[in-house]
Amino acid sequence: MKGGGGGGSGASAYGFPAKRRWRGLVIGVLGLVILSMLVPLVFLLGLYNGFHTAGYASDSQNSKPGFQPSHVDDVIRKLGPTLPKDVFQKYAIEPKKETIDFIHESQEPKGLPPPKVDALPKHTHENSTKVGGRVQSPERMMPMDESGKPCEWKFGSYCIWRQENREVIKDSMVKKLKDQLFVARAYYPTIAKLPTQSKLTQEMKQNIQELERVLSESTTDLDLPLQIEKKSLKMEATIAKAKSFPVDCNNVDKKLRQIFDMTEDEANFHMKQSAFLFQLAVQTMPKSMHCLSMQLTVEYFRIYSTKLELSQAEKYSDLTLNHYIIFSNNILASSVVINSTVSNSKESRNQVFHVLTDGQNYFAMKLWFLRNSYEEAAVEVINVEHLKLDDHENVTFALPQEFRISFRTLTHSRTEYISMFSHLHYLLPEIFKNLDKVVVLEDDVIVQRDLSALWSLDMEGKVNGAAQCCHLRLGELKSILGENGYVQNDCTWMSGLNVIDLAKWRELDLSQTFRSLVREGGSTDAVALRASLLTFQSLIYALDDSWSLYGLGHDYKLNVQDVENAATLHYNGYLKPWLELGIPNYKAYWKKFLDREDPFLSKCNINP
Ligand SMILES: *[C@@H]1O[C@H](CO)[C@@H](O)[C@H](O)[C@H]1NC(C)=O
Ligand SMILES: *[C@@H]1O[C@H](CO)[C@@H](O)[C@H](O)[C@H]1NC(C)=O
Ligand SMILES: *[C@@H]1O[C@H](CO)[C@@H](O)[C@H](O)[C@H]1NC(C)=O
Repeated sequence: MKGGGGGGSGASAYGFPAKRRWRGLVIGVLGLVILSMLVPLVFLLGLYNGFHTAGYASDSQNSKPGFQPSHVDDVIRKLGPTLPKDVFQKYAIEPKKETIDFIHESQEPKGLPPPKVDALPKHTHENSTKVGGRVQSPERMMPMDESGKPCEWKFGSYCIWRQENREVIKDSMVKKLKDQLFVARAYYPTIAKLPTQSKLTQEMKQNIQELERVLSESTTDLDLPLQIEKKSLKMEATIAKAKSFPVDCNNVDKKLRQIFDMTEDEANFHMKQSAFLFQLAVQTMPKSMHCLSMQLTVEYFRIYSTKLELSQAEKYSDLTLNHYIIFSNNILASSVVINSTVSNSKESRNQVFHVLTDGQNYFAMKLWFLRNSYEEAAVEVINVEHLKLDDHENVTFALPQEFRISFRTLTHSRTEYISMFSHLHYLLPEIFKNLDKVVVLEDDVIVQRDLSALWSLDMEGKVNGAAQCCHLRLGELKSILGENGYVQNDCTWMSGLNVIDLAKWRELDLSQTFRSLVREGGSTDAVALRASLLTFQSLIYALDDSWSLYGLGHDYKLNVQDVENAATLHYNGYLKPWLELGIPNYKAYWKKFLDREDPFLSKCNINP
């Protein structure tokens, strides 16, 4: 038909009356307009479809390899080592920039760690031995919410957490016990007033105390002691007895309300302890800490940028001095370790602290330790990401790892906490080439006594002076260590306070041993645990128990006397003293060594 397309309108100009020519022109222009709209649309749609099919999510992808746009290929290739390709296909997640950053950051467990299960028990075989650690592998981080949408990537994402912990958290028994406790407490005062019921009163009191104790230590059913069913039944019977008395309902009701008000704090506390917040608060660096780091970094560049001089640099490799090493990305924590060590030592002039941190906190740490002095001790801050070591192109920062290991058999249940060297510890002999002996402190440790005796300790040819845990023996970790190749009856040990003979370490080339053990692999979460335990077999010198007390980050029932007498306190566990969730009774020992007047702390609203 003439005039239908752009080309036709030109031809219609010949030999037609003006009116018809006019109509032809209008149709022509309209056609042009429609075409001009359609072409890009078709083009766009076509590209969109091609992109989608080839890029991700489609099962037919493999049958049409020709459509795969090369940039998607590129991205997948780039992500290859850290993120399996099938993850993208399975969940149709666009490889956004944040995702990449995120995975990169996941190599720094404590600073900005990815939301992940591992701090909580995970299911494995072997009578459900469970292992959790601070470090997690990115492969398992692609969950979706209920509607099938991928979880948004951010730290502590509830969506992700939920997915990964869906079956893990079982707390119906805990809830039931809390209810029982609640009711029992409401009845108690009324029963106690009945002169003839002293026996029942006594019974109730005992039951209440017992349940309170249990609940103070348990947030999930896994934490509950095994005889708990019996206790619960006993409590039920007691409550039934109490209910059988003609008590004034009004009284009980009033009491219930009262308890409800009174225990708001307590309820709050328990709620906070409940698994999600628990994880969140532990895993995300609190905002205020992040603020502190930022403020200090900005200040560093404002004031010091060029004229920074290291007045005490000559001390850093002086063999005659006492060298302490701390891995940390937490400014306050490292300040507290150093301050507590110096404050409790007879002499500070011979002390040198080497704080190894990541690039993100390096300048902030530097400024902090320039602004603050610790008597006459020297403090060196090292950015591990800038270390130049032979054979190690890029060094990534890592904190010591913490593991929570739960044992559960039909008749018995218990949980052990271990903290262990990370791969970074195995670079110590190279980083400190000039030193032969060092003491490694973790940043969740405080020192309460003079440590100088550690420097004259005869370790009888062993390499690592450490606290031994003989309540956990290697033989019990078969699922991690394998069947053979170690002495089953040997005790495990803890990092936290370690006296290290670097000379001997180099002589035995333990770093090499560790690296080959890591290469052997094994259960993914526990590779470092296994490698460290096996590397130091028969090379551990057991420090006397009085040197360290650990568990202040998870154990509510440590003896006060023991806490006060220990040379060092290790807040291993999730309840670090600088977190709101820290165990209140143990916080004071830590806070004591913090300068709370520091203007940067108030600027960032830090009030631990
Ligand atoms: C627990 O371990 C024992 C011996 O190691 C084994 O015989 C038993 O089958 C295991 N039980 C479960 C439930 O895996
Ligand atoms: C090490 O870092 C450099 C620059 O940051 C990078 O180009 C290189 O690929 C990294 N090497 C390895 C083995 O990761
Ligand atoms: C070190 O601890 C003492 C208390 O023992 C405190 O007064 C001081 O301010 C602390 N110093 C720093 C730099 O935190």
